[in-house]
Amino acid sequence: MTTPQDSSHDQVRRSVAEQYTAALERSQTRGAGGCCSGPAPCGAAAALAGYDAPDEALSGAASCSFGCGNPLSFAEVLPGQTVVDLGSGAGYDLLVAAQKVGAEGRVIGVDMTDAMLEAARINVQNAGAHQVQLRKGVIEALPIAADQADWVISNCVINLSPDKPKVFEEIARVLKDGGQFRISDIVAEDLPAWLKSSEIAYAACVAGALPEALYLQGLRDAGLQDVQVVARLTYDAAQIRALIESDFADAGIDAAQWEALLAQVDGKVASITVTGRKETAPRACCGGQC
Ligand SMILES: C[S@@+](CC[C@H](N)C(=O)[O-])C[C@H]1O[C@@H](n2cnc3c(N)ncnc32)[C@H](O)[C@@H]1O
Repeated sequence: MTTPQDSSHDQVRRSVAEQYTAALERSQTRGAGGCCSGPAPCGAAAALAGYDAPDEALSGAASCSFGCGNPLSFAEVLPGQTVVDLGSGAGYDLLVAAQKVGAEGRVIGVDMTDAMLEAARINVQNAGAHQVQLRKGVIEALPIAADQADWVISNCVINLSPDKPKVFEEIARVLKDGGQFRISDIVAEDLPAWLKSSEIAYAACVAGALPEALYLQGLRDAGLQDVQVVARLTYDAAQIRALIESDFADAGIDAAQWEALLAQVDGKVASITVTGRKETAPRACCGGQC
């Protein structure tokens, strides 16, 4: 049975998917590097994500990255392991993960936006990364069986979810016992109402962002352990303006007004990278002998 909450969640996801389809089209018409240089959703954040220069096989995917961090730089992924990427977009982190797991490993990218999945399919094919699978689905109900992943990664996606507790539960479900997660995402403290109600600021990864303490608690409430922030980049006013200003292009906001608005959000939005793991199950005991 569909509840009113399901349909409002679907509406949020539809709006996000539409805006990422449009952002991807803009980035593709601008050419390489385009989506990291303009006011597309998360594009300005991606420019700050801190990747090394990609090698040639990955440059197509890198130019369409909408991430806000580099979760895999904190993951000691080994050959043969399984990595699941929540909201894999055009596939850059999938390809970096594929290099780490090698031909014997497995990388599964989940995204809900057809245009992103198609861009990722082309990037994966061009890179010859046969170990990468793309699955269409929502991160609140991952199309993945339980206990599959050595690593769950996600880059600038969970802030976009209308049901973040469900996403945290899904991370715990698909991780193997002892499996680990590395998440880069946006957090925000005490945002003003004008910003929280902007659909574009939502798709730009700002308006839907949780306060950091709630984010970390949400992961712990899902049963995940050793939850800690290992990197943080706090955005200044100019960086936040680059993320949101396209929404206000027709509002006739002059320089002084921008300054006043941005003073309300200066220092309140940050990209963090969070690490943690799923508890290792206790060994079965047999006749009192463990
Ligand atoms: C900011 S982009 C990040 C993409 C990619 N992780 C990267 O670093 O380039 C957000 C991506 O998450 C996807 N997405 C957003 N909400 C989602 C949801 N609830 N379920 C599945 N995918 C979602 C969007 O389609 C988009 O591809």
